[in-house]
Amino acid sequence: MTFKVPRGTQDILPGQSEKWQKIEGVMRHLSNLYRYAEIRTPMFESTELFQRGVGDTTDIVQKEMYTFEDRGGRSLTLRPEGTASIARSYVEHKMFGYPDQPVKVSYLGPMFRYERSQKGRYRQFVQFGVEAIGSKDPAVDAEVIELAMRIYQECGLKDLKLVINSLGDKEVRLAHRDALIKHFEPHIGEFCSDCQNRLEKNPLRILDCKVDAKNPLLGSAPKLTDYLNEESAAYFNQVKNYLDVLGIDYEVDPNLVRGLDYYNHTAFEIMSTSEGFGAITTLCGGGRYNGLVEDLGGPETPGIGFGMSIERLLLALEAEQVELDVDNQLDIYIVAMNEAAKEKAVELTSSFRAKGISADIDYANRKMKAQMKSADRLQAKFVIVLGETELEEMQANVKEMATGTQEQVPFHDLVNYLQSHK
Ligand code: HAM
Repeated sequence: MTFKVPRGTQDILPGQSEKWQKIEGVMRHLSNLYRYAEIRTPMFESTELFQRGVGDTTDIVQKEMYTFEDRGGRSLTLRPEGTASIARSYVEHKMFGYPDQPVKVSYLGPMFRYERSQKGRYRQFVQFGVEAIGSKDPAVDAEVIELAMRIYQECGLKDLKLVINSLGDKEVRLAHRDALIKHFEPHIGEFCSDCQNRLEKNPLRILDCKVDAKNPLLGSAPKLTDYLNEESAAYFNQVKNYLDVLGIDYEVDPNLVRGLDYYNHTAFEIMSTSEGFGAITTLCGGGRYNGLVEDLGGPETPGIGFGMSIERLLLALEAEQVELDVDNQLDIYIVAMNEAAKEKAVELTSSFRAKGISADIDYANRKMKAQMKSADRLQAKFVIVLGETELEEMQANVKEMATGTQEQVPFHDLVNYLQSHK
């Protein structure tokens, strides 16, 4: 019997994992520059948190959650996203009482959605995200968007498009909701059963239904932007103004509604415009959720953030043929010709590593030629061969593989030599 990874998941193997580490490094570095401190929340939460937070009528809650009962009879769910957990944590730890608002946090970790697996869509994926909770300053919206863009740019992506929209406030949403019901009601028989349920509960969700995506009534549906009240329109203008100040190009798409219920005001997505990219072009999604903290039992608190998966970022890099500059150099490989040399090699390898020089040796007792081949395959920068003569003279011939240059270096000087040449 053989086993395979579950559908929609993958092993990240050596050779690939270096790229992940590089990207994660960029994310960590930039979150630090923008002052979004890391927060780590559990990988599962009570099911109700997501029902309330993400929304009962969303595809995520209705169709995509990994929900199970634990041995104590509690209903738990593997987190499908990070925002609800972080809002929960914000309330639980009374972060609204912190003197400095907004509280700015970042997170990186696996999320789980039972989706139809296809290119760019996994059942376990790694999402990086940030949340700034406790300010409704439109400059924060611009900061969050800039941070997302900068992560992609720092990784070398160029074919990017930022799409923004305003979902307005509660009043706007209600007026728009009524208009949507009027628009869809006469034809609701043509829609899937989920959409028929959504009509009264949450007609906005019809607009991002995956089943009815091609129905022309979606395109002709009333646009939220036409219902913006003065306050919401002014807020949206301020966000756009800050984006202009930062020199960030954007496109306004009145059809951008996002698939989670907690959003209001600013909604945005960053897409790949690269030709080689597959059908799913959204790399990153985010927006404002001014009512979420309150819905989860906290005081009235505004918030904004985004989420992006490393999987889609890697696909975009592939589509644009960008090679990440991964730092995975093997500084030195030591070839040992006999047992005494092997002992010395073990000792030297350890002393090199203690000084931050990456080093490797042969553990298969192979002949010199095979060891040299390994050094080549591993792309070692330097190689030394240890035999009787080297042990007698207490020095080695250090060969730089790329240039072929060689130099005799006493054992006690090897660390210095490598440190100054690596
Ligand atoms: P979302 O649009 O559901 O938003 O997901 C955000 C990002 O997660 C997507 O743009 C994509 O990069 C990645 N993603 C989602 N599903 C998958 C999947 N099945 N496979 C691979 N990648 C995926 C949220 O999750 C919100 N919590 C974002 C947010 C944070 N809004 C405010 N704060």
